[in-house]
Amino acid sequence: MYFKQILDERCGCASYLIASRGSHEAAIVDPAVETQQYDALLAERNFRLRYVIDTHVHADHVSGARDLRAKHGAELCLHESAQVTYPIRPLKDGEELPLGQLRLRVLRTPGHRLELISILIINPPRSPEPSMVLTGDSLLVGDVGRPDFGGGDAAAQYESLSRLLRLPDWVAVFPGHFEGPCGKGMCGRPSTTIGFERLYNPLARLDRAAFIATLTDGVPARPLNMTAIEATNRGLAEMPWAMLTSTPPVREIDIGALEARPPDAVVLDVREPEEYAHGHVPGAVSLPQADLASRLDEVPRDRPILTVCERGIRSLRAAQFLTQVGITQVASVNGGTAAWRGAGKPVSFGDTALEKSRVAESEWTHAGARSSYRI
Ligand SMILES: [Fe+2]
Repeated sequence: MYFKQILDERCGCASYLIASRGSHEAAIVDPAVETQQYDALLAERNFRLRYVIDTHVHADHVSGARDLRAKHGAELCLHESAQVTYPIRPLKDGEELPLGQLRLRVLRTPGHRLELISILIINPPRSPEPSMVLTGDSLLVGDVGRPDFGGGDAAAQYESLSRLLRLPDWVAVFPGHFEGPCGKGMCGRPSTTIGFERLYNPLARLDRAAFIATLTDGVPARPLNMTAIEATNRGLAEMPWAMLTSTPPVREIDIGALEARPPDAVVLDVREPEEYAHGHVPGAVSLPQADLASRLDEVPRDRPILTVCERGIRSLRAAQFLTQVGITQVASVNGGTAAWRGAGKPVSFGDTALEKSRVAESEWTHAGARSSYRI
């Protein structure tokens, strides 16, 4: 067999090329949008792409699956419950896809998304047992995929984790992510084993109630441009440009410069609406990073744009994206709203239309309370 893991540093995603050296048939799982890298690999090894599989409808990166199907005539496979507008080969739990001497067995592992599947790789000439599992965003290294982006289910994720951890110890685990927003506490390694995760994945030790409570704690920071990316992956929109594919240099300013900003500057708070409502820089308008690409026409191009989030991580990526799409006067606020609060500056509450600061809540914030929201 042939097996290659391809890591994408920009979004923390992993994709896979699996092939039979005997029959030269290949499968690609969770492809990135830049499909030339797979074309080159297939050509170099003289493989024929038979299947392209998305483990689920991705929310954080645009899939290259339809592009690969168009170029190579492969079957595009998703679980039968996937809500997409284009034709697919619908997969069922337990189904096996033959690939030369190999077998790719579908294991339904919903949670992060209801349609999420894992793929067991079996090489019968070597062993009747699976030796590897591609887990998508179900089991991650030291973590599991977040179920709280919409369309997920923490209880289902618990059952899926339990199901995966019943596999033999030796099974090598290759997840869909090694970093990025789809988990809360990924270790950073690109692979692990079932045995190691059963012993040392902190979530594997929790009972059902504690597991669900942990996974649903806090406000989920949905990925940058999730709305546009997910719509594209469902076939409802064509916005592949919504991926942040570059890291342009972006000016970063401190809270002093934010306070002394020119009067025409627009402060764009890219946190979730709930975080915004719990306290934001006075005058900031809410545009969650998840909706940035789909609401791009609301961002003025003729005024300075200052992006702000909780601590300065999301705002930097949002500012890079705005720069990528040609908006030039952009800066990100270093330290974010937390630094603003920490410096004892007043905050406003409520939605965008209500810019009135409430004194009592401001005082509560100034008393040193810390947000529990994650970046
Ligand atoms: Fe995902």
